[in-house]
Amino acid sequence: MKILFLTHSFNSLAQRLYIELARRGHEVSIEFDINDAVTVQAVELYRPDLIVAPFLKRIIPEAVWRNHVCFVVHPGIVGDRGPSALDWVIMHDCAEWGVTVLQANGEIDAGDIWAAETFPMRLAKKSSLYRNEVVEAAVRAVLAAVERFQSGNYKPMPLDYSRPEVRGRLHAPIRQVDRVIDWQSDDTRAVLKKIHAADGFPGVLDALYGEAYYLFDACAEDTLCGGEPGAIIARRNGAICRATRDGAVWIGHLKRKNEGAYTFDQNYLGSNPSQPPQPTPALPCQGGSGGGGSSALPLTRGSWRGFGSNGLSELKLPAVLALEGRLADVPEAPLDPFSGNAGETYRDIWFEQKNDVGYLHFAFYNGAMSTEQCMRLREAYLAATQREVRVIVLMGGADFWSNGINLNCIENAASPADESWRNINAMDDLTRAIAATGSQLTIAALQGNAGAGGVFLSLAADHVYAREGVVFNPHYKGMGNLYGSEYWTYLLPRRVGEARAAALTQNRLPVGAAEAREMGLIDGCFGTDREDFLARIEQLAEGLAASPDYPSLLREKIARRERDEREKPLDAYRAEELQHMKLNFYGFDPSYHVARYNFVYKVPHAWTPLYLARHRRIASSLA
Ligand code: COA
Repeated sequence: MKILFLTHSFNSLAQRLYIELARRGHEVSIEFDINDAVTVQAVELYRPDLIVAPFLKRIIPEAVWRNHVCFVVHPGIVGDRGPSALDWVIMHDCAEWGVTVLQANGEIDAGDIWAAETFPMRLAKKSSLYRNEVVEAAVRAVLAAVERFQSGNYKPMPLDYSRPEVRGRLHAPIRQVDRVIDWQSDDTRAVLKKIHAADGFPGVLDALYGEAYYLFDACAEDTLCGGEPGAIIARRNGAICRATRDGAVWIGHLKRKNEGAYTFDQNYLGSNPSQPPQPTPALPCQGGSGGGGSSALPLTRGSWRGFGSNGLSELKLPAVLALEGRLADVPEAPLDPFSGNAGETYRDIWFEQKNDVGYLHFAFYNGAMSTEQCMRLREAYLAATQREVRVIVLMGGADFWSNGINLNCIENAASPADESWRNINAMDDLTRAIAATGSQLTIAALQGNAGAGGVFLSLAADHVYAREGVVFNPHYKGMGNLYGSEYWTYLLPRRVGEARAAALTQNRLPVGAAEAREMGLIDGCFGTDREDFLARIEQLAEGLAASPDYPSLLREKIARRERDEREKPLDAYRAEELQHMKLNFYGFDPSYHVARYNFVYKVPHAWTPLYLARHRRIASSLA
């Protein structure tokens, strides 16, 4: 079938559905939801058999849904209607949630139901639930719905609240007032739930040093405690630890609210200001370092040659960076990555050893790796190679393996060009350390997605395995024609050949794990869920470490590296790649800086790129 995706962006869910439908022989074209006229035009150009809306923020125009079957993917159980579905369910601590595929009609989320799936809930960030449980359930539901539609004889179920199995209800949009943390009365779990329910977007609005910040990326702390609830009691690797009534929580990322001073304005109250919250007083903090400060952060945020504060939003940054200059009195709470089981706490890099296998975890928020994180990870990796292990497994994080250099930190720097340069060099140093390892065999174990430099970093390992649902974006070009480094010109062709390497990097399309295995980009994919994947990775790594072939495998690997080095040294690949990157960062063409700016500030799309909009490609080739 010809399927048109109508979507706000080509996000992780849209990418995964694209991969799954294409794999089943459907032709998929993509149109971003920009305005009604553009949508109508896209439908006229493509004449699809079916329209699927994986991620929409506006309603589909009547001219479209009246004349075409349009499936809307709603992240809620049957009967649930309205925005902020996941936010509410996390706040309400439900045990089970789901995804429903319904047919668009004049009423939001009230159309006939074509398929629905459920999943058990866990206390986790909204973004993590979305990228894992929601995506997996949505794939099952959309595939079922598409099959039913194709059969031609399926009658979808009208929404009928009198049926006992219809448990969802219409809910109001969630407002910041619903999310407010009352540090005096909320316990750790309540604080976590509120921040998790707003993770990714929009964050929980709160006061720090008398200014308004959105909080993201929270986790529990089970050792540190004390201090007035809300006070900042420690810092570690970019995160801050705040006391709660009964313990403490870590907050990894902050986004400053545009307006500066902390006020409860109309916007904050949302559409129903009937229950005005009490303005939170400036927060007291241990050692006098928190609350009440009045000096504002400098407003200039790494603006690139004439780009400046844009009124869209501020940058989401590691908390310590967002509060730069304010935390002098807050004690560091260092944690050695090799310290073993540290209980519940914040850590972005840690090492575990089981028998002869070392597992190096690096769970960086959104998979973005800043200069400093790349350096710390390289240090940890080199320390791991000194351990008594035969195999090192590079675990990434549960939600992402890696998405390459940290574009937010780069945007925030005084000179984004200089910071881009430092960051890519730190990534290269890390990649090289892995690629050149002669003392162990290495495995990259991708529990979550990888994009851009993150994909090529994984290829530095001897073996690459991914969970079945993982999506790869092995290209940089979408970021303003960025050339990329991470030794990709060495690592990619040696796995897939020159022709395919060129196609992958130029086409800019996502690749599913199964397709990645078929083309040789990775060595295997398995595991329906994370637990299953991790269990099999452990078996594989143990098997490799205990294999009688281990010494010869290690010898072969060293010999191959030496041979490759003689043919063309790693330094030469790097120098060539960085030559291109220098032009991207410092040259006359500002495309990378513009694309990065648009990406980090989430500037809405003005059109759908032709590499996604097949219908527009066809139209332009006929013109
Ligand atoms: N630096 C900073 N933030 C990044 C990032 C990066 N390299 N890659 C992803 N993110 C952030 C996004 O801004 C988004 O943040 P939000 O939660 O605040 O909205 C979050 O990670 C998730 O990204 P999103 O684009 O929504 O995820 P996705 O799964 O739909 O798409 C990618 C994944 C990899 C295709 C997309 O994120 C991307 O193009 N990233 C940039 C990759 C890149 O060019 N890296 C630099 C060159 S090495």
